[in-house]
Amino acid sequence: MYAVAATAISILLATVATPASAECTRDGLLAAAASYVAAQASGSTENLPLSATNFTYRLNNAAVDIAAGPLGRALPVDYNRTSADTTACASYTLLISASGPAPYVISTQIRHPTADDGSSNDTTSEIALIDTIAATTGALFFDAARTLSLVSQENWAPLEETQRPSREELKRVGDAYLDMWTDAGAADTIPWGTDCERVEGSMLTRPCGATLPRGGSQKTNGDRRYVVDEALGSVDVLCSFDALGDMPDSHEVRVEGGLVKYVHTVTVLQ
Ligand SMILES: *[C@@H]1O[C@H](CO)[C@@H](O)[C@H](O)[C@H]1NC(C)=O
Ligand SMILES: *[C@@H]1O[C@H](CO)[C@@H](O)[C@H](O)[C@H]1NC(C)=O
Ligand SMILES: *[C@@H]1O[C@H](CO)[C@@H](O)[C@H](O)[C@H]1NC(C)=O
Repeated sequence: MYAVAATAISILLATVATPASAECTRDGLLAAAASYVAAQASGSTENLPLSATNFTYRLNNAAVDIAAGPLGRALPVDYNRTSADTTACASYTLLISASGPAPYVISTQIRHPTADDGSSNDTTSEIALIDTIAATTGALFFDAARTLSLVSQENWAPLEETQRPSREELKRVGDAYLDMWTDAGAADTIPWGTDCERVEGSMLTRPCGATLPRGGSQKTNGDRRYVVDEALGSVDVLCSFDALGDMPDSHEVRVEGGLVKYVHTVTVLQ
């Protein structure tokens, strides 16, 4: 009798413990991002788990057909690196194609259905949004081979627990960075590392806090979309870089031990 009751209770507990939502794992996010990188390498979106009911492809801040962008053709992938945001159920991938006839440096955020949006659960089994800023010849400081050689030397290993910034701090740093053009005080709120490197397009500035904007523009950089990864100490913000004129833009920052280590920008002039 006692054994039967105990079994019933343990079955009940097992049922209760099964997560009905929050299926958004780091591994799931990385696997979905890898399927995106594979799609770019093959030029085929056939194996991407795009949501049948709610999928959007955005290229340089405008919704277009997925085949109209870089995914419409195969590109040799010379570099790819992904960060994962299990809270927002989103990922960010930097992809560089330098060795083919059409060079690209591509910043892509992928978003998945979440319970907050009305889905039955947070799930990486489907993709709701591919949000891409794609720089090619003509983009700001564009030279894919040089960008490749610079970022390939960086260390993006996961940070020790004690070196990880909080989600709030990462978002704050990302916002402060984008606010420097409109807020004269923003630059001084950013914890610059002394050996920090900034790669804008293919232009290297070291240390990265050496020359900074201090206000002057009227229009705040808008339409900010965030992917925050505490384990890598990174924040990527896609935006409309309105401070200098309506440019599709990605700013990625890595913070190590509380200090900014890397800054990457991908900016399309249009
Ligand atoms: C993307 O990067 C991962 C990790 O470095 C690598 O294993 C994979 O082969 C790369 N994908 C492509 C298509 O090059
Ligand atoms: C559709 O997906 C987008 C993300 O691209 C999300 O913001 C929106 O809430 C979703 N809408 C529905 C009805 O699920
Ligand atoms: C989670 O949502 C996805 C997409 O809406 C659906 O295919 C899947 O069956 C759901 N899983 C659970 C456990 O509800």
